[in-house]
Amino acid sequence: MVEKYILGIETSCDDTSAAVVGADGTVLSSIIATQTDIHAEYGGVFPEMASRAHSEFLLPVIKKAMKDAQVTHEDLCAIGVTRGPGLIGSILVGLNTAAGLGAGWKIPVIGVNHLRGHLRSADLEEKRIIFPSLILLISGGHTFLALMKNHDSIELLGTTRDDSAGEAYDKVGRMLGLDYPAGPAIDRLALQGESNIPFPRPMLHKGLEFSFSGIKSAVSRYVETNKDFSKEDVAASFVDACIDVLMKKCKVGLVQTQAKSLTIVGGVSASKQIRERADRLCKELNVHLSLPPVKWSTDNAAMIALATWDYINADIHPEPIPVMGLSITEY
Ligand code: KG4
Ligand code: ZN
Repeated sequence: MVEKYILGIETSCDDTSAAVVGADGTVLSSIIATQTDIHAEYGGVFPEMASRAHSEFLLPVIKKAMKDAQVTHEDLCAIGVTRGPGLIGSILVGLNTAAGLGAGWKIPVIGVNHLRGHLRSADLEEKRIIFPSLILLISGGHTFLALMKNHDSIELLGTTRDDSAGEAYDKVGRMLGLDYPAGPAIDRLALQGESNIPFPRPMLHKGLEFSFSGIKSAVSRYVETNKDFSKEDVAASFVDACIDVLMKKCKVGLVQTQAKSLTIVGGVSASKQIRERADRLCKELNVHLSLPPVKWSTDNAAMIALATWDYINADIHPEPIPVMGLSITEY
């Protein structure tokens, strides 16, 4: 049972985030310092700059999260911190800070898998997932379909063979001259255009695996050979191709697994168009659609704190592993 508060820390990419959840798993505070301005001029995340920015922002962000939640370190029973996957330098800043605070405050530090955090994002603030649920995780680093029978039983059904969905959005955004991260801008631009360019739908009829690099290459060829292209139409056609593939795989997965709900998490699930198409699909198949509010789709520490809450609640006690002479337990 969880009796006190939990501090969550997330630094796997370009967002420095800290959050506090209460003994019942309620989110009490969530602070996110984004580094978008720092990386914009490089057209993508510059790993060394990201680690430096995390080092500068993390302690103030943690202080603010604890202040907003009106807790001191004495109210905490654990710290949960992203242990990967992500940028190694950025993760080390989070791990070392958490390990240092945990040693000083004499509370355990739990290293949480970032993807487990995303899976938990759909239940932040209220329980939305109806089990068994087909999970579509679409982020900047990953794309997969999984069947979740409950929070501890996750069966991977299919993943991407090359780029993730978010990577494709960001790379196509770069081709269209949009600032990083281009996902939200492409999504908006697409709403102003027409889907009139027949970009491929890779692996549409091949099981539950994905491939996005072919769509990306087709867009690259199109913009190189059609100098007067319409950015809006390219965006609309690209988004349409990606969503056709994503929804087809969800449909096959839902029919195959007979899941009661479809849960979509990860940064790309912030897309208005994906949300609308998923809503249509779920109505057609008569299954529940579980979507986190847009603010919990992208990286945040609240999802890491909630995943840590699961761990404490389940009373799991594996051996802590040493990190730079301090100790961390993995989840
Ligand atoms: O989950 P996330 O914040 O970080 C990772 O774990 O990777 O996902 C970031 C990705 C980026 O590729 C970004 O362009 C994309 O999510 N993204 C979006 C939207 N908001 C963020 N893609 C499409 N539409 C959006 N509204
Ligand atoms: Zn993420």
